[in-house]
Amino acid sequence: MKKRILVVSSANMDFVLNVSRIPEPGETILESGDYRLIPGGKGANSAIAVERLGGDCVFCAKLGRDANGEALRKLYEAEGINLSALRSTDEAPTGLASIIVERDGCNRINVFPGANNYLNADDAEEALLCYPDALFMHFEIPDEAVLTAAHFAAKKGIPIVIDAGPAKPDFPFDKLPPLEIFSPNESETEIYTGINPSGADNALRAAVALQKIVKSHYYIIKLGDKGALVYDGKYYSIASSYDVKAVDTTAAGDSFTAALTLEYLRSGNIMRSIRYANAVGAYVVSKRGASTSIPNEKQLSDFIKSRGIEL
Ligand code: RIB
Repeated sequence: MKKRILVVSSANMDFVLNVSRIPEPGETILESGDYRLIPGGKGANSAIAVERLGGDCVFCAKLGRDANGEALRKLYEAEGINLSALRSTDEAPTGLASIIVERDGCNRINVFPGANNYLNADDAEEALLCYPDALFMHFEIPDEAVLTAAHFAAKKGIPIVIDAGPAKPDFPFDKLPPLEIFSPNESETEIYTGINPSGADNALRAAVALQKIVKSHYYIIKLGDKGALVYDGKYYSIASSYDVKAVDTTAAGDSFTAALTLEYLRSGNIMRSIRYANAVGAYVVSKRGASTSIPNEKQLSDFIKSRGIEL
């Protein structure tokens, strides 16, 4: 039986600009690269990853009633995602992200949340009626939706995973019930704890500091090309990443945490799940775009075999 993951999170259309470099103030650069509209949004990227990797995803998000919203809904439908909790609003346009990708694959993202800001507590509570095996969220939606979904899940004993992006240092962490997994990336970790998690010692110090901010069974810090650190309040371990040529890091974190959650539900083995998620992350950074770079099961297993990766 497939594991059901309820993703309560964001949906955006990404306006992606591949640039040679960031202009200086007042400078104009004539580019030879391209620009594209690519479906994205942290929540949608994770939802697509869950579904493509063999999970059963129920996606709770809010779209605008506009052309981008329509295009996104069609894409999710084609992916086979359960859309019973996907809502639309007339109040705002579909979320839009402006993503600048430089030649080394690094990205800079500005998100205009639009309809995502209208996802509310009722939407989140209704979505939980699908009885998922886990609840998965980011901070790209209103705090009240995150808190309501979390409390509803906690009451029913459903494990909660929070991918802590984008960084929201003023989020009322003390109002969250205990989580199963809390997973920020490097820059989010630094914003939450004031510690730059570069190097194993600093990453561990940051994980210990996270423990004082939010209660969770596991803290998993995504360390980019250095892999990921897991800390359970007592022991820690680092799983190295796999070497690939990075062309675009967009959606790597979203699909890492989605893959981690899915494999953790399937295997119950946290280290295996992190290695699996590292493989997904490596695959994603080697391709361009958000949803366009996420592998399906066959693509991932070919990648794992070709790299000799042992899970
Ligand atoms: O994490 C990448 C995502 O962040 C993009 O797809 C963009 O939409 C923003 O939500």
